[in-house]
Amino acid sequence: MRATMGLLPIALISLISLLSFLPSVNAVKGHDFKTCSQSGFCRRGRALASRAAEADSWESPYSLLKDGLELDSQGSTFKGKVKSALYPDVRFSLRVDVLHDGLFRIRMDEVDGLKKRYDEASKWALVGEPELGSAQWSKGEKEISAVTRTGGERVELKIEYSPLKVGMWISGKEVIALNGRGLLHMEHFRTKEEPAAESSVESSSGEEEQTVLEPAKPTERPTAWFEGAEEDAYWSESFGGNTDSKPKGPESLSLDITFPLAQHLYGIPEHAAPLSLPTTQPPETRYNEPYRLYNLDVFEYLPDSPMALYGSIPLLHAHSKEGTVGALFLTGAETWIDVARPQVGGRGMSTHWVSESGILDLFLLPGPGPHQLFRQYTALTGPSALPQLFALGYHQCRWNYISSKDVLDVNRRFDDALMPLDVTWLDIEYAAEKKYFDWDKSNFPDPRAMVDAVAEAKRKMVAIVDPHLKKTSNYHVYQQAQERDVLIKKSDGKEYEGWCWPGASAYADFFHPDSWQWWRGLFRLGDGKDVKEGEGWIDSTKDLFIWNDMNEPSVFNGPEITMPKDNIHHGGWEHRDVHNLNGMLFHKQTSLALIERTNPPQRPFVLSRSFYPGSQQYGAIWTGDNGGTWEHMKVGLPMVLTLGVTGMAFAGADVGGFFGNPGPEMLTRWYQVGIFAPFFRGHAHIDTKRREPYLLEEPYKSIVRDALELRYAMLPLWYTLMHEASISGTPATRPHYVILPHDEQGFAIDDQYYIGDSMLVKPVTDEGATETSVYLAEDEVYYAFDDYTMYRGISSGAQIIVPSPLEKIPLFYRGGHIIPLRLRPRRSSSLMAQDPFTLVIGLSTKRAAVGELYLDDGESFSFRKGELVWRDFRAIKNGKKGIKIISDDRVPAHPTEAVYGVDLTGTWDPENTYARNIHDVRVERVVVLGLPAAPTSVHAVSNQQKVDLNFKWIKGSSAEGKRGQEGPASVLIIKDPGVGIAKDWEIVVE
Ligand code: GLC
Repeated sequence: MRATMGLLPIALISLISLLSFLPSVNAVKGHDFKTCSQSGFCRRGRALASRAAEADSWESPYSLLKDGLELDSQGSTFKGKVKSALYPDVRFSLRVDVLHDGLFRIRMDEVDGLKKRYDEASKWALVGEPELGSAQWSKGEKEISAVTRTGGERVELKIEYSPLKVGMWISGKEVIALNGRGLLHMEHFRTKEEPAAESSVESSSGEEEQTVLEPAKPTERPTAWFEGAEEDAYWSESFGGNTDSKPKGPESLSLDITFPLAQHLYGIPEHAAPLSLPTTQPPETRYNEPYRLYNLDVFEYLPDSPMALYGSIPLLHAHSKEGTVGALFLTGAETWIDVARPQVGGRGMSTHWVSESGILDLFLLPGPGPHQLFRQYTALTGPSALPQLFALGYHQCRWNYISSKDVLDVNRRFDDALMPLDVTWLDIEYAAEKKYFDWDKSNFPDPRAMVDAVAEAKRKMVAIVDPHLKKTSNYHVYQQAQERDVLIKKSDGKEYEGWCWPGASAYADFFHPDSWQWWRGLFRLGDGKDVKEGEGWIDSTKDLFIWNDMNEPSVFNGPEITMPKDNIHHGGWEHRDVHNLNGMLFHKQTSLALIERTNPPQRPFVLSRSFYPGSQQYGAIWTGDNGGTWEHMKVGLPMVLTLGVTGMAFAGADVGGFFGNPGPEMLTRWYQVGIFAPFFRGHAHIDTKRREPYLLEEPYKSIVRDALELRYAMLPLWYTLMHEASISGTPATRPHYVILPHDEQGFAIDDQYYIGDSMLVKPVTDEGATETSVYLAEDEVYYAFDDYTMYRGISSGAQIIVPSPLEKIPLFYRGGHIIPLRLRPRRSSSLMAQDPFTLVIGLSTKRAAVGELYLDDGESFSFRKGELVWRDFRAIKNGKKGIKIISDDRVPAHPTEAVYGVDLTGTWDPENTYARNIHDVRVERVVVLGLPAAPTSVHAVSNQQKVDLNFKWIKGSSAEGKRGQEGPASVLIIKDPGVGIAKDWEIVVE
């Protein structure tokens, strides 16, 4: 429906836009989106790969010239000249930078070409110029090589001259090979040949039969074996009634990247696909199409497909039980990636990347494990922002809450139902004629009063602000953008007009520096006083946060529901060059706007649908318009896991599914899924029935309330994990291969995962399930969350069957971990700020456990000045049957990058203001699972004072017991141990 809004009269358009609100019963409109064979450069790339595969001998025509090699004095940067035997007159440059921590950056560009290739993706994606490292270089007859290190490992890059091949070797084994299959090809800029002369061909009967086009030059093309005999879609291309004029001609880039040791590949979101990427090429073809990275608004996407979705992160993790390495292929252009496992069931994964434009800018990340990869990727593209605490609570959204009264009513009903809620969302209908910032005053007469009323329960609101600007003279945002000349242009230089929710729209160009301050100014808060109409947002408050949707950008009448590729951005770059970056730039400016609007600054919350490497610094993302089906519920798990391992730590899927009307069982299960995603929001399409959780009948309503309460109880853990992500890039939701990187049987598992290192969950996504099988891949005990039943895994992997009727979630404490919880139900997360903690200690088979807790004010940036509490907990053996539980300070490490220009340099004082603010916050309960025997005494030592403590002992199995002796775990409950959460103490169990 969205794509049909082209050149129709206004009345019809309003009718059509109304119709687009009607229930959609069909799945994705596949014909709106290209397959590889409908995309010229993808077709050329795949054809190249098939010619290579079919040829008796195939050798890359590219070589590195031995003359003119340059190496700087630090051994950091190497430069050389590359030639292609196909076009001896065309010159290419190769540049290799040795980066800190054993990374290599490889760039290739055409030298003095007829045009310039886009080389600015890194400018937007990287936090700065990557820190250089150094290597020992040596030059041989056949290759030049560079040796550096990561951790204790030797990392070597070998560059073979002819044919050009680059290999990364770690500890003597090749882990990444570039151009090993000879598919490297940088289509150079060329001049369009003159139109062919027409001539007629006579048929054998002597009649004039057909008109053919004769090439102006001789038909024989010396490059046919490599580029193919025909100029396929070099100079223009049509799809779905739109023609791409391609003024620059062909400039695609093809490269094969092989991971000789890899058993599995992960990454390259966004696709509705399993975590371990299924192959797209023989011999084990699972998807017939390559994975596509081209940010698109795909209505009702398929739950199992390599089709492009809303965002792109061109990062792969290649994993085997020996290690993990990564490749980051920075390009802003549309890219297709074929994935194959050349030997059925064997080692080695090969990939083939084809991008439409831009230079080659490739980062090789040596790992050698998932955690090092997270750190290396974070050093390049920035840490994920630490969200405000409220943003980890429950978000209630719907298209649309229709009035202030409706909003307040929803809030009241959450209270009546004793369900916690943090944020109420407003979709596009709040905006008069979809002119974002302008409220529909007939339904929202006093927006600030409404937000203030919601904020009384320490709750927040979010309103949507999309990037399309209604083209009308009475819309100040559009007028200002026009005056500043910051709107995206068509190829003829005139303002581009596309159709979106408001009808005819223009699109601000966030590549244009003049748009930045202007956009940020639109969010300035005036509290009705110091901001004039049009210079800020009078009808907003600091409790109103922002949702950036449709930022791929979505254009209903554009090719593939987006912008024409020959549109022009700042600097003269074509949209084709920057498409995948577009959404992130918009997200970034909105996020900065929210920081700037208060003094001192508050942490922003901006949800974006589109994303690119670096987006993690600006806020949350969600997986777009899923459907209310079990398949969509299921695929949300790997989608969120994949986003996590590729840097987007703050992600989630719409709970309930955007489309359709999930029945009570599905909705209940979906809440039980949603509470285990970092971003947790219920959302629904305008045509769906209301489905706020308080509307459920019993028993569903109570079960969902339990799930919501569980989410809130676990907020201390979620917050601690989001803090960890903000430092090291390690996601809160961790797949098996991250936690147990040597367990091959776990590599493809994506329906169960760890929350941090300490809890394991397997959300139920099957209708009617009453029991669930869970995989435990280590010789360790796991305790069921709700009744402390102890299970034991084995290092060769054990499947256990656990009961999972509707009211039960297969959730486990992992032996060896200490988990902080807050168990007092509250209306919202901010109301928990002074609540006491419960520490649950799941002892390991060695009678030990570790844990941590991070706390700060949950709102401001003062944590960057050291206003925080970070505790380390340990339980260690004490005698034959006891333990000591120790709480210590952990000295904070700040993120390395001041993304928001906030001072990071403060020194840390354990008695900081925040620590003093929570002086009275105590531990109200310690629960120890799996002790071998009843204690004889328990006491606490705090402030050099020893206090005897009361405790309750429930007999049960010991974590140190023999296999087969599992069952209900022993439980020691120490009530009110009288220790402060921010204090140093010891609890001694004897
Ligand atoms: C898009 C969004 C969806 C939103 C709708 C209206 O489809 O993905 O979440 O409700 O637009 O704004």
